[in-house]
Amino acid sequence: MDIKILPSVLNVPREEIQEYIEEIEQVVDGISFDIMDGQFVPPTSFTLEEVQSYNVSKLMEVHLMVQHPETMIEDYVKAGADIVTIHYEALQESLHDNLELIHELGAQTSLALKPDTPVDHVPDDVWDMVDVPLIMSVEPGWGGQSFMTDMLEKVRILREKFPDKDINIDGGVTDETAPLAIEAGATILISGSYLYKAEDREEAAEALRRGL
Ligand code: DX5
Repeated sequence: MDIKILPSVLNVPREEIQEYIEEIEQVVDGISFDIMDGQFVPPTSFTLEEVQSYNVSKLMEVHLMVQHPETMIEDYVKAGADIVTIHYEALQESLHDNLELIHELGAQTSLALKPDTPVDHVPDDVWDMVDVPLIMSVEPGWGGQSFMTDMLEKVRILREKFPDKDINIDGGVTDETAPLAIEAGATILISGSYLYKAEDREEAAEALRRGL
């Protein structure tokens, strides 16, 4: 599977976001929006209206770091989300319903695990409904954190379990950590600070894609 690069715009100043999207979309595969409710994670981030206001021409991933994703899924799919990421830790008892709703709305399902959640905590019948497993390589809530290399083992376990699925890794992905993630089996890389701060963003995106 090809490596897909999805920049996170969490740490991009709001007034620069549209310009950044238009520039970076030339060299990446889509855009990732981190949605935070101040409950599942302490910070809050974009509102639905803000996400609706940005013009994304490629793939859009919306990462719902929220306690009640069922209240937001339809709005974000209508706002253009191609992949909707929800967290296993948010609402285990209604995971099936949330994942089913995402599929019914025509988007791809992604299930994210926080660093402390082992892969085998998720029942196989739930994984069967997940198009894109996502491993958080930082604690959710903030950009600019360091990559947690012990999360690579979870990527390896998922790659072994699902040879044909895209596997997403999110947090602290740079030209140094991306090759480790790819070698472990990740095929979608979310990168916030590294890409935004890069002098040459085209070269930076290539460095992420290149792998070992
Ligand atoms: C953290 C977010 C990540 C973060 C990535 O909760 O899910 O997407 O914005 O930013 P960097 O690449 O700076 O860790």
